[in-house]
Amino acid sequence: MTTQPHDIRQGSRHSAVLRPAGPSSRTFVHDSSDAPDHLEITDVRKRYGGTEVLKGVDLSVAQGRTTAIVGPSGSGKTTLLRLIAGFSAPDAGRIALGGAEVAGPEKWVPAHKRSVGYVAQDGALFPHLSVGANIAFGLPLRGKAAARRVGELLEMVSMDASYAKRRPHQLSGGQQQRVALARALARQPELMLLDEPFSALDAGLRVATRRAVSKTLEQAGVTTILVTHDQAEALSFADQVAVMRDGKLAQIGSPFVVYTRPADRATAEFLGDAVILEAWLEGSLALCSLGGIPVRMPKVQGKVNLMLRPEQIRISSGSSIRGRVVDTDYFGPETTVRIQLEPILVDAEHPRDPHQPVGGEVINIRHWNAMLARPGTELFLKVVGEGVVFPWQG
Ligand SMILES: Nc1ncnc2c1ncn2[C@@H]1O[C@H](COP(=O)(O)OP(=O)(O)O)[C@@H](O)[C@H]1O
Ligand SMILES: [Mg+2]
Repeated sequence: MTTQPHDIRQGSRHSAVLRPAGPSSRTFVHDSSDAPDHLEITDVRKRYGGTEVLKGVDLSVAQGRTTAIVGPSGSGKTTLLRLIAGFSAPDAGRIALGGAEVAGPEKWVPAHKRSVGYVAQDGALFPHLSVGANIAFGLPLRGKAAARRVGELLEMVSMDASYAKRRPHQLSGGQQQRVALARALARQPELMLLDEPFSALDAGLRVATRRAVSKTLEQAGVTTILVTHDQAEALSFADQVAVMRDGKLAQIGSPFVVYTRPADRATAEFLGDAVILEAWLEGSLALCSLGGIPVRMPKVQGKVNLMLRPEQIRISSGSSIRGRVVDTDYFGPETTVRIQLEPILVDAEHPRDPHQPVGGEVINIRHWNAMLARPGTELFLKVVGEGVVFPWQG
């Protein structure tokens, strides 16, 4: 992200949007209020045959910002993206772009009039055309003007103009994806839809391509929606993450909020590793095998499931919470350590409620030092930060 004091984005329908920036602003600020909505989806439904694939989706995307729609395969992500692009029509609900309805009970604007770019999972370049001809496909320009514009677009996606003469099969997977993006950018869309464009690339290339694409779109001020089933990709790419599950958006929020305060247990477990413990909640303190853990604005009391992220659990000699190493998995930079916890401590003056959980779970934490954790070693543990509670499931 920019290191300048302010980040000025030029929206094509709206005047420049001035917002504070900085390394943390993207992660921590849930900024739905500082830019006008570019896309607004209201109670959209879609059925294929007897199956309702989208079951009432509501989503707003601010002008010039980046949203990731993340969810398991088959949850309806591509279906939603195709409705936004105008490749198919919703059965119910409304879609508006820049304040104007493009799909609704009495309204239909076809795809080519929506100023929307679409990059599919496989890039879908025309194999028999050169890179240049692929990019120029939708351009209203011909001859030298077209060649110049193709060169500019290649530069935008960090590729040399000489690539224009190549055929798609002479490019790497990452280069093909960038050409597909250049082709989509050629029409100067105001909204870019990316349907798992990086998933066919291997890990290193995926990160580099994602960064290059993200930077290109940000510099062009294009509002972007990225669909992915990769949690880490969603959290790192977007200003706003929308979690899709079974045809509905289970949660919408900043990457920080959806990761640290997931709305339900399934979202917690989908977005990353989660330590789930039995706990007894009184006020905003959850008693569990790791001691008393503060909980932010709990909606339930009594017997609950407490969720912590593994990185919140630290080894600390100053703690009284004990655990014993069961075994470890070595991953190079970090080791996953399985730890048997002791049951929940009971205060002698306050007899245990018969429904109170007993704890004593085996949990997974991470540690950089593989040598530290031989099986059988006793460790002292402390928890940093708050926990999140969910209704009791056992
Ligand atoms: N054109 C179609 N006809 C029938 N069923 C479809 C069609 N498109 C998608 N589906 C079904 O809708 C569900 C959601 O698909 P999709 O939106 O592609 O999910 P995702 O992109 O999240 O993997 C799947 O069960 C899929 O089989
Ligand atoms: Mg899909």
